[in-house]
Amino acid sequence: MDTRTSAKPLIETDQAHLIHPLHHPTEHQTPVMMVQGDGVMLRDADGREYIDGLSSLWNVNAGHGRGELAEVAAEQMRRLAFTSAYVGLTNEPAVRLAERLLGLAYPNMSGVYFTTGGAESNESAFKIARYVWRRQGKPGKTKIIARYHGYHGLTMAAMSATGIPAFHRMFAPTVPGFTHVLPSYPYRYPGSGAEALEEAIQREGADTVAAFLAEPVIGAGGVIPPTPDYFPRIREICDRHQVLFIADEIITGFGRTGRWFALGHWGIEPDVVTFAKGVTSAYLPLGGVIVSRDVHRAILDAPLTERFMHAATYSGHPTCCAVGLRNLEIIEREGLVERAAAMGARLLAGLQTLRDLPRVGDVRGLGLMCGIELVDDKATKAPAVGLGARVLAEARKRGLISRIRAAQTADYPIGDTVCVAPPLVITEAQVDRIVDILGEAIKTASA
Ligand SMILES: Cc1ncc(COP(=O)(O)O)c(C=O)c1O
Repeated sequence: MDTRTSAKPLIETDQAHLIHPLHHPTEHQTPVMMVQGDGVMLRDADGREYIDGLSSLWNVNAGHGRGELAEVAAEQMRRLAFTSAYVGLTNEPAVRLAERLLGLAYPNMSGVYFTTGGAESNESAFKIARYVWRRQGKPGKTKIIARYHGYHGLTMAAMSATGIPAFHRMFAPTVPGFTHVLPSYPYRYPGSGAEALEEAIQREGADTVAAFLAEPVIGAGGVIPPTPDYFPRIREICDRHQVLFIADEIITGFGRTGRWFALGHWGIEPDVVTFAKGVTSAYLPLGGVIVSRDVHRAILDAPLTERFMHAATYSGHPTCCAVGLRNLEIIEREGLVERAAAMGARLLAGLQTLRDLPRVGDVRGLGLMCGIELVDDKATKAPAVGLGARVLAEARKRGLISRIRAAQTADYPIGDTVCVAPPLVITEAQVDRIVDILGEAIKTASA
């Protein structure tokens, strides 16, 4: 089928009516309309092809164009597209997916609550944390400590947990009870680490803190893996102060870092995991929360008067769960977790060769998520602002689509970072092509 279409009238209607995420008209004057995907590749309405350098939004883990997932969805829709999963009712895909997730997640995990996306998963996790402490007679433990540079979604509480001021500015005030600490970020904050959490717990008072929230590897905030000792120490601090540890694995889950879930890299288990994105490889919207046995017990042992009054229409959506289940089967059958580890190592090694370029300050990554932090001056690490957008434009001309980390503001100058996180099905040749394109793009854009 020829996918070439004249997109012009559609784009005019788009510009007149469609409000896009992070909308600003100046950045939407020449939008690209994608019309087809196959594996790692995307094709636009003019027939141009691009490597999907960010798995679209860090989520198309199994790659584009999987007819098998379309068929599973169609089959489930014909049989039973939707039915309520509210207490007293259930459906087979939701049950089977929950069981499968528990087989893949940390050994201490026991319960799964489904949502439709990342922010809703984090909102649910915040409520679960409050619920657990209230059930245990500690209703004062309500605060959430999150991290600067962390991204957790943009609904009201998730936005408040997100530690990037640009997202708060036009929507302030944030929800009370959210505070932020510096993350482990060796390039910018040498020596920063888990003690920042301990200080914050002591300052706020452990009897007021419900949970600590962190991405195992910061994603949208600039692909920032922690130092090796960071999460073991976080676990120890959370235990000592009776603070739940919520791992936001919305990007890092489902193979992205070369493991099914990321905290295994450092040998620890969280109390709560939030997931979304890669669970369906984005073929349908789905997310959720996986909870430990102890957290699960709080829900299972509650008297009727203290039942878990949290819900959403589409929790346990049978069609989304059926697609999720098959997607996990594909990831397993094709060895995509191992592939992410191998291709990720190749990608990082390739990008490391760009360190010699005068505007490349740092290159970092874990598995198939990598970041190139751009600077104005290598010695002072003065952040590059604006260069990232030019690099992306040059990369796009050469057939690579990606994103830079979320916008900075005058009071938050951190430097553009080009993020790279392609689908896990990527080949060696495609990895090398990404490295070549980014090298050329950075050189051209810096000139
Ligand atoms: C780590 C992380 N958490 C949460 C979210 C929010 O997910 P959603 O956009 O599905 O609400 C994202 C989205 O990029 C994310 O990267």
